[in-house]
Amino acid sequence: MLNRREFISKSLKGTTGLIVISIVPIGLSACSNKELSLDTDSMVNLGPLTELNKGIFPKKVPYKVNIKDAWTEQKMEGFVYINKTFEDNNLLILSPICTHLGCVVGDADEKLQKEGIRYYCPCHGGQYDEYGVNVGGPPPRPLEMFSPYVENGNVYISILNPTVR
Ligand code: FES
Repeated sequence: MLNRREFISKSLKGTTGLIVISIVPIGLSACSNKELSLDTDSMVNLGPLTELNKGIFPKKVPYKVNIKDAWTEQKMEGFVYINKTFEDNNLLILSPICTHLGCVVGDADEKLQKEGIRYYCPCHGGQYDEYGVNVGGPPPRPLEMFSPYVENGNVYISILNPTVR
């Protein structure tokens, strides 16, 4: 889990930083010594961290969000998959969009799950393990992931800004 400072630092690296740069100044208080904060209005609120940490992993978490800029407002809904990272037990938030040609991946059937394949893409048979790593079929890379940002106990993600692995 990243704190504000780590989140901003990580987000500003590479091309993914471009989108974050556009939202960061909204939350900044100029010439202030206060810690940086992000405007969470257009971010997906996945709910309280305490709730997300409960239950059986991996799990599917639905969301709804209104993404606004100066001219447009876009309603979106969907879901992410959440697992715990193997190394440090933090939340691993995965996009369900297949990295082959963009279909939505679902749960693999029981037989495949016994073989370690957790997610299956119905379009061309792409296979991913429980951490979203591509393990079979045409997907060229793992499922993309989101860096969580925690504010007031809630976990936010920038849904239009996943991280390519
Ligand atoms: S779009 Fe998923 S395997 Fe082709």
